[in-house]
Amino acid sequence: MKITILTLFPEMFAPLKESIIGRAVKEGKIELNIVNIRDYTEDKHLKCDDYPFGGGAGMVMMPQPIGSAIEAVDPEHRARRIYLSPKGRVFRQQMVFEFLEYEHLVLLCGHYEGVDQRVLDLFIDEEVSIGDYVLTGGELPAMVIADSVSRYVDGVLSAGSLVDESFSENLLEYPQYTRPVEYRGLTVPEVLRSGNHGKIDAWRREQALAVTKKCRPDLLKGE
Ligand SMILES: C[S@@+](CC[C@H](N)C(=O)[O-])C[C@H]1O[C@@H](n2cnc3c(N)ncnc32)[C@H](O)[C@@H]1O
Repeated sequence: MKITILTLFPEMFAPLKESIIGRAVKEGKIELNIVNIRDYTEDKHLKCDDYPFGGGAGMVMMPQPIGSAIEAVDPEHRARRIYLSPKGRVFRQQMVFEFLEYEHLVLLCGHYEGVDQRVLDLFIDEEVSIGDYVLTGGELPAMVIADSVSRYVDGVLSAGSLVDESFSENLLEYPQYTRPVEYRGLTVPEVLRSGNHGKIDAWRREQALAVTKKCRPDLLKGE
């Protein structure tokens, strides 16, 4: 899986160099390219944004640097090109599996008031939002998508880690415990220490249902 992120703020992606995703990149399981849109501007002052036609507050990202950057990273339009946007389809776990079908994802991060509409009309396959709120830029949403998709790339996590996770089978995960057996008067449930895997599985299933019913009843209705 190759993920290319187009941004005016490449330094913001330091978190993807850490931990599980950082290791997967170093081991070559994921190819991650962070591309600075400014490297593609034809403006002699390296300008990439301008005032909106029609007036109004803020700046709009210009089409030329973005168009040239997209054409450079995906010349034959083989990648799925996604613009992170509050107007997009709201990101959910099922979409992780959709995105895994593509060999190459191009994630375009807007900033300021967003990008010129012609970028979307000419170059983008779909707009994706990470929730109904407005952020200053698409950098955090791009990291959310890169992280959640990368976890499912073969070899990034052990297969067992992906079983029974929240949102599999429309359930949230059961409660997890580790040592010590007792902490501030609270004890790890006896069944988890019993060694009886049948009973442990049944307890976990029951707990997953209870947690889902309490926190996200909409999932049980398949919403
Ligand atoms: C301040 S926002 C622009 C908001 C835009 N003017 C609007 O009202 O829809 C700047 C950029 O942040 C990104 N962004 C903000 N909120 C987002 C969200 N919920 N999901 C995905 N991207 C988001 C987009 O790339 C957007 O172009």
